[in-house]
Amino acid sequence: MMRYLSRNLGYFVCANIVLSLLILNWREVSLHLPFRRPPTNLPALNRPISPGVNVELLSGPETETISQFVFTTIPGRAVVHGFTMLDKLYLKNGTLYILTTEHEKFPQREHLLSKPINVGPGIDTTPTKENLDFVSPRDAPEVLGDYALHIPGFTVILYDGPQFMTHYYHWWGEIILGFWRVYNALREDVAAEVLPRPNRFLLPNVAPGKWRDRAGVDAPLMRAAFPDTLIEEQDYWEDLAKLGTTVVFERVMLVSRASAHRHPLGSVWYKMIAGAMAVGVPEGYWNPIRSTLVQNVVGYLPVPPGSSESSISQGGRGELPIVTYISRQGGGRRLITSDHDRLVESLEALDKEGICKFRIVQMEKLNVKQQIEVVAESTIIVGVHGNGLTHQLWMPPSPRSAVFEIFYPNDFTFDYEMLARNMGHKHYGVWNDTFETYGKGDYHKGVHFSDQFHGSAIPVYGPAVAQKIRERLVDPIED
Ligand SMILES: *[C@@H]1O[C@H](CO)[C@@H](O)[C@H](O)[C@H]1NC(C)=O
Ligand SMILES: *[C@@H]1O[C@H](CO)[C@@H](O)[C@H](O)[C@H]1NC(C)=O
Repeated sequence: MMRYLSRNLGYFVCANIVLSLLILNWREVSLHLPFRRPPTNLPALNRPISPGVNVELLSGPETETISQFVFTTIPGRAVVHGFTMLDKLYLKNGTLYILTTEHEKFPQREHLLSKPINVGPGIDTTPTKENLDFVSPRDAPEVLGDYALHIPGFTVILYDGPQFMTHYYHWWGEIILGFWRVYNALREDVAAEVLPRPNRFLLPNVAPGKWRDRAGVDAPLMRAAFPDTLIEEQDYWEDLAKLGTTVVFERVMLVSRASAHRHPLGSVWYKMIAGAMAVGVPEGYWNPIRSTLVQNVVGYLPVPPGSSESSISQGGRGELPIVTYISRQGGGRRLITSDHDRLVESLEALDKEGICKFRIVQMEKLNVKQQIEVVAESTIIVGVHGNGLTHQLWMPPSPRSAVFEIFYPNDFTFDYEMLARNMGHKHYGVWNDTFETYGKGDYHKGVHFSDQFHGSAIPVYGPAVAQKIRERLVDPIED
């Protein structure tokens, strides 16, 4: 307690010194002290006044000389390596600036962003002052000038090149999921059910259109999940630079893949969202995105039996849960043909038994709407490791929902495992006739890729998968 008091006293004294300095050296600055944590009304983005402008001063005679500059802050606990919420982030001639007297209270530069270059062996992505710098109020007039163009609302800045954007899993399962997860850490601070959607995604290092995936899924789904949100690219950033003025973003989520990987958990799970797993968020935090997207793509929100919206024991409205096998037999990484056939027979047998409805799909043969509808109706999806399993993002969570990911035996990666945890689906790594599955707080140790990982002769023992699915659908619910 004493330590707390003295630290805060020191803080207060320090703040006062800063205050005097500011008054001496930069009379025009409008002060918002204390500047470390803003009050708890964080998402009040629709306040009538332009945040950053000191209202009291505005009414005075000094109006013309006041500056819009206020200190940069991190709202709530919405911060982890590579995903940082920042209120009042400045931009000048392509460089981002954090205005603060407390440099050390912010994450290190390399945890905020990285050089937006393609990563690879021997490539150093350590950012420089040209990417982001800290500026003190004393230096601000020289660095930032005396006024700023105000970009209102919430901007998600994806500060990467396109290298890992053009894939369904990397875009939706890491970039978008990660930003939404860390952003939702704010919900406990503001007691909000749903946070406002961003006003814009900004991709300063991506030429127009170059973030889109070849399968053409990412962008259409963005329009469905964020119908109100603009997606701006490099030309927007360049437009701002051409104005030559300082820009201030009211609220930002700054996302950087290489910085996210610098989190200690990055070398445990090897995924961009590994560190984000350490940020506590309310359960079901993804539901607003899932339900908006599914409703906008399919026209309604399917309620599978067993999901929280329907009665589990009665099987919903008398319907059976749907088990969907996402076949990759038309692609490179695939099952041994006879194992695929036996898997289909085993799952068809479950259907005949009356345990579930069984469906087999090849995603590449369906249009976007059909793909979303199939997973939105499913309780369980089964498939070889691959992008089809990213579709679990749109499968409703329930005590019975599950993802069966078939690997070459003993291989393991966390891509769809980590997604399943975020969604509230149980994940089973399938190694032919055995299963790797872990409860809360427990994880598979390490990742493993054999040279068969991407092979075309992955074994699976269908009857074992069918038996595990039977247990998942019929046994009393765990937990
Ligand atoms: C703007 O940045 C570029 C490099 O990014 C630099 O060459 C130029 O001098 C800068 N202009 C000003 C006015 O600072
Ligand atoms: C897969 O499991 C089945 C059933 O246990 C077994 O007969 C078969 O040999 C296994 N295949 C491989 C490649 O291990």
